[in-house]
Amino acid sequence: MNLGFENKVAVITGAVGGMGEECARILIEEGAKVVLADIRDEAGPRLAAELGNAIYIRVDVTNPDDIARMVDRALEAYGTIDILINTAGIGGNAVRNLPEKEQWNLMFAVHVQGTVACIKEVTERVMIPNKSGKIVNVASLCNHSGAGGMSHYCAAKAAITQITLGGARQLGRHGINMNCVSPGNVHSPMTEIQFSDPARVEQLKQEIVFGYIGSARDIAYPMVLLCSDRMGWVVGADLNVSAGQVIY
Ligand SMILES: NC(=O)c1ccc[n+]([C@@H]2O[C@H](COP(=O)([O-])OP(=O)(O)OC[C@H]3O[C@@H](n4cnc5c(N)ncnc54)[C@H](O)[C@@H]3O)[C@@H](O)[C@H]2O)c1
Repeated sequence: MNLGFENKVAVITGAVGGMGEECARILIEEGAKVVLADIRDEAGPRLAAELGNAIYIRVDVTNPDDIARMVDRALEAYGTIDILINTAGIGGNAVRNLPEKEQWNLMFAVHVQGTVACIKEVTERVMIPNKSGKIVNVASLCNHSGAGGMSHYCAAKAAITQITLGGARQLGRHGINMNCVSPGNVHSPMTEIQFSDPARVEQLKQEIVFGYIGSARDIAYPMVLLCSDRMGWVVGADLNVSAGQVIY
């Protein structure tokens, strides 16, 4: 089956590392061109050069000017945007030393407002006029399971599921598919600290039906599949990608 990604243009936020980077690698292998949007200014240009058919743009998703520039540069470089993948995110560690109110604000600014702002900019300027597009957001398994001490993160991820469900109804009328994934715990730069605790690793292995912890690529494959026209009848799905860590 041809997934139909030849010459498609994808914008990926949080694309320099983890799931976003794996989505970029897979899409380029399948013939797409990719805009890597992230705040990793050292690694970003190196990754773009390594991948080919990719450009790096510094985009802080909490900054509306950056998001507008992301769309400007994508259109200048590649002429359109067919796919938007919103993976930009931060874990508990990124906010740990902030006062509690700021922890919540930053979690929501990056995950919720950042995701919404990217969706609005890309759809209003490109996908709605084109009457087509594919959007994949990243929620989390913890949205369904909860996680002690991580209510700010889990609440932000729950909001992403709701944004996906409501947005899918609205945008579907314009020929746009929006879905999200709820990943379980996998290896990525974000989770390195978590996996340095052997007891936590053991506990996770017990939860996962295959008995081992997956990789960012294990999440990226289903994310990319959701961007294919072959998945065109899937709208507003929240796909559990966790090897049974939680079954719902
Ligand atoms: N790794 C897991 O186990 C797991 C599980 C469930 C959900 N998630 C979610 O998956 C997504 C990808 O995470 P990952 O595991 O690949 O981690 P990661 O840290 O490798 O990737 C996140 C990327 O987002 C970028 N980023 C952070 N703040 C940003 C901002 N303000 N603007 C633009 N980019 C920003 C980072 O620089 C990084 O490259 C995140 O939304 C995360 O919350 C991860």
